[in-house]
Amino acid sequence: MPLLENRVAIVTGASRGIGLAIARVFAREGARVVICGRKQESLDRAAAEIGDAVLPLACHVGRAEDIRRLVETTVQRFGKIDILVNNAGTNIAQEPVLGIDEAKFDKMVEINLKSAFRLMQAVAPGMCKRGWGSIVNIASISGLRPQYHGMLYSMTKAALIMMTKSYALELGPRGVRVNAIAPGLIQTTLSEYYWKDEARLAEMLGRQAIGHLGKPEEVAEVALLLGSDRGSYITGQTLVVDGGRTVASGI
Ligand SMILES: NC(=O)c1ccc[n+]([C@@H]2O[C@H](COP(=O)([O-])OP(=O)(O)OC[C@H]3O[C@@H](n4cnc5c(N)ncnc54)[C@H](OP(=O)(O)O)[C@@H]3O)[C@@H](O)[C@H]2O)c1
Repeated sequence: MPLLENRVAIVTGASRGIGLAIARVFAREGARVVICGRKQESLDRAAAEIGDAVLPLACHVGRAEDIRRLVETTVQRFGKIDILVNNAGTNIAQEPVLGIDEAKFDKMVEINLKSAFRLMQAVAPGMCKRGWGSIVNIASISGLRPQYHGMLYSMTKAALIMMTKSYALELGPRGVRVNAIAPGLIQTTLSEYYWKDEARLAEMLGRQAIGHLGKPEEVAEVALLLGSDRGSYITGQTLVVDGGRTVASGI
């Protein structure tokens, strides 16, 4: 039996990269999946490629009104939301800490952190009422130790990991599991600076126990574990999917 039969999922930031791979795997396992991103055309292309199980809805996760519409439309269309994957994220401030201004600070918090808060607040009450829910927050290994010149990215991902634990603690008794995934280097648009240059890529992979560049599908299969009943005894955890990068010394 498919692992997500009769489940309804929202995956944010799913027009490409890790979110798209998660939507594909969830649809393969029988879920109806609402995918969001800012650009309707990219979402339409992604939905057409995956098939009828997918509903593409444009939503800027930094805007409260967009989030309200995303949740309302999903419930109107499918009656409930069982699984929420907070995947949309950005990194607009790759620079020394002393160059960061308040506008960038607020923007990074809004997109990488407050979006997850707003979505969990909107979706979790229905999950608690039905006594089943799974929330998966896509963090980063940069939330476990500081990324050089990436203070805001690391800070928002670290806070997302703590938010995950706090929600897990309170919602567990009501049937809702909340976990995070901390990917290492995965081949997507967001991370192309690190893998497009051959020398830089070789240097990065040289620091990993598993010597290949991570694929979005390798994160998606972990999201399936956490999103489905296969992960029924896992909550409040951050699963690291980084090819062993963080077990290496000297990083
Ligand atoms: N790739 C890595 O190496 C890596 C490592 C660790 C963690 N992560 C995390 O994994 C998640 C996915 O990253 P990715 O690498 O797959 O990135 P990506 O390829 O750049 O994809 C990002 C997705 O998010 C959407 N998006 C961006 N800003 C948005 C917004 N404000 N509102 C709604 N959707 C938005 C994009 O669509 P639009 O542009 O159309 O909005 C796109 O669908 C992020 O949280 C990232 O921090 C990635």
